[in-house]
Amino acid sequence: MNRKWFGLAVGLALGLGMGMTALTFAADEKETELGKLMEKVQKNKTTITKGTRNVAAYKKSQAEIEKAAKDWVKQAKEAKPHNEVVKSAKGEADPQKKWDELMDLWGKESQKLADLVAKSESTQKDAKDQLNTINKTCTECHQVFRVDADEKF
Ligand code: HEC
Repeated sequence: MNRKWFGLAVGLALGLGMGMTALTFAADEKETELGKLMEKVQKNKTTITKGTRNVAAYKKSQAEIEKAAKDWVKQAKEAKPHNEVVKSAKGEADPQKKWDELMDLWGKESQKLADLVAKSESTQKDAKDQLNTINKTCTECHQVFRVDADEKF
């Protein structure tokens, strides 16, 4: 490679590198506190969904499910003050009230799930039904407050 082309190649590589760095920064900035927290919320959902998949899975995972459900109780409290999106909610008469209600409901229903699975005589069906009840609060909140994203969760 002669000097001129070498210089061009280095220049291109540098330019590309800087472009990527800028992109990474932009992506980081978009990640909100609530978004980060929701990723942890999602991990607990995976644990609970897998653990309630069938009777055999349930018998093995009751302790794990209880722990994840208790985590949700905490995460609902943690998420509640991160209500920046309330300002941009559409179609709600009182978005702040709706936000608080949904967070409280999510926490309450998660506590119910934790109490339920803590009982050795509880059934996989009861736990799964309770998970579905909780999932409705996730979906409802995402529909009201996460309007620009597709509902995938
Ligand atoms: C009271 C409102 C509310 C509830 C309840 C709620 N979420 Fe969210 N969730 C949000 C909002 C708002 C966002 C968008 C956050 C952002 O990107 O700033 C979000 C984002 C997410 C994301 C995307 C995170 C990312 O990478 O940005 C996941 C995953 C998620 N929620 C899962 C769940 C699950 C699972 C539940 C129920 C167990 C749940 N959420 C309950 C409001 C809620």
